[in-house]
Amino acid sequence: MIQRSTRFGHLLRSFRDAPSSSSSKIGGYLLASTASSPLKQACVSTNRDDEFANLDWDNLGFGMVPTDYMYIMKCSKGESFEHGQLSNFGNIELSPASGVLNYGQGAYEGTKAYKKEDGRLLLFRPDQNAIRLKNSAERMCMPSPSIDQFVDALKQTVLANKRWVPPPGKGSLYIRPLIMGSGEILGLGAAPEYTFLIYVSPVGNYFKEGLAPLNLYVEEEFDRASRGGTGGVKSITNYAPGLKALTRAKNRGFSDVLYLDSTNKKNLEEVSSCNIFVVKGNAISTPATNGTILAGITRKSIIDIARDHGYQVEEGTITVDELIHADEVFCTGTAVGVAPVGSITYQGTRMEFKTGAQTVSQQLYFTLEAIKKGLIEDKKGWIVEIDQ
Ligand SMILES: Cc1ncc(COP(=O)(O)O)c(C=O)c1O
Repeated sequence: MIQRSTRFGHLLRSFRDAPSSSSSKIGGYLLASTASSPLKQACVSTNRDDEFANLDWDNLGFGMVPTDYMYIMKCSKGESFEHGQLSNFGNIELSPASGVLNYGQGAYEGTKAYKKEDGRLLLFRPDQNAIRLKNSAERMCMPSPSIDQFVDALKQTVLANKRWVPPPGKGSLYIRPLIMGSGEILGLGAAPEYTFLIYVSPVGNYFKEGLAPLNLYVEEEFDRASRGGTGGVKSITNYAPGLKALTRAKNRGFSDVLYLDSTNKKNLEEVSSCNIFVVKGNAISTPATNGTILAGITRKSIIDIARDHGYQVEEGTITVDELIHADEVFCTGTAVGVAPVGSITYQGTRMEFKTGAQTVSQQLYFTLEAIKKGLIEDKKGWIVEIDQ
């Protein structure tokens, strides 16, 4: 089934006014009020107790849908994050001289919450996001919340926005935690104040192709990362430089860009926002994470699941020339899930791969999705349920 991304205006059937009170309690958590904003006015409907928000749940794409609440926690340089709180979702105030706006001091995460048929809310390996954010923050000279603070903040934010978690089978609630240097800094340096923030949006498929195979373009002009850089962490500075290559590839009809290593221009690295796997018979290989590739949580989970299914999984060097011998290629990521690759174009040659039923990628995809959605037993302790 192909789902096309839908803009917010088409998704939300009706807007109503926000409640007039400035603070209230959500699921036992204290809610603070924020300055009113146009977004807040647009997204909040009067009945926050409804089981589901008023959305066209059958046509979710991967676009921003403002929800009811976000989570904010601040701390000064040299201190640690202590107390965060939920507030109405809306615009935030930033000094024009903030570290994030001027020097790109920021890092982010992405994870998802799922709703089960019985209404239970599930998170997938949130501790892994907490650890990765800590590593990213450390690389960008920023403080980060503890693992417990991070997971607790995630739970609070999802619970407060629970009417925006799509019904089972319709999608998930995408969760975007981020840390930024929010304090003013004129000369290059670490900002004097930091903000940890979480916002959420209900989502369906990431690619406009839906679950259809992706057509990748091997990028040779632009590099995503280099040795000693930030490719191995989720710094915000890794993403805007890729927009040129991504836009050009999309204009040429491709789904996304496949990057090569910047030294030899020969070895596969990853796609703009997901990792890559190559299948040949019973062997599955993926580029090793050596500092230039993001260690995806989906990548790590798929390696485990594939081994459980009896595949021989290797992390190492894969040259672009080896693709010609591949049976299958697939991408992994929180946003994309496990996405089959139908073709890869390199230096004018289009290589095609097996997709569809009876493929390894589909087998792994079904297992991972079933674990995430609580449809099969989680024997690995990956699922965290949110108490309601
Ligand atoms: C560059 C990059 N690679 C890979 C991934 C996949 O990581 P994960 O599976 O943790 O979502 C992401 C998404 O976070 C990404 O931005």
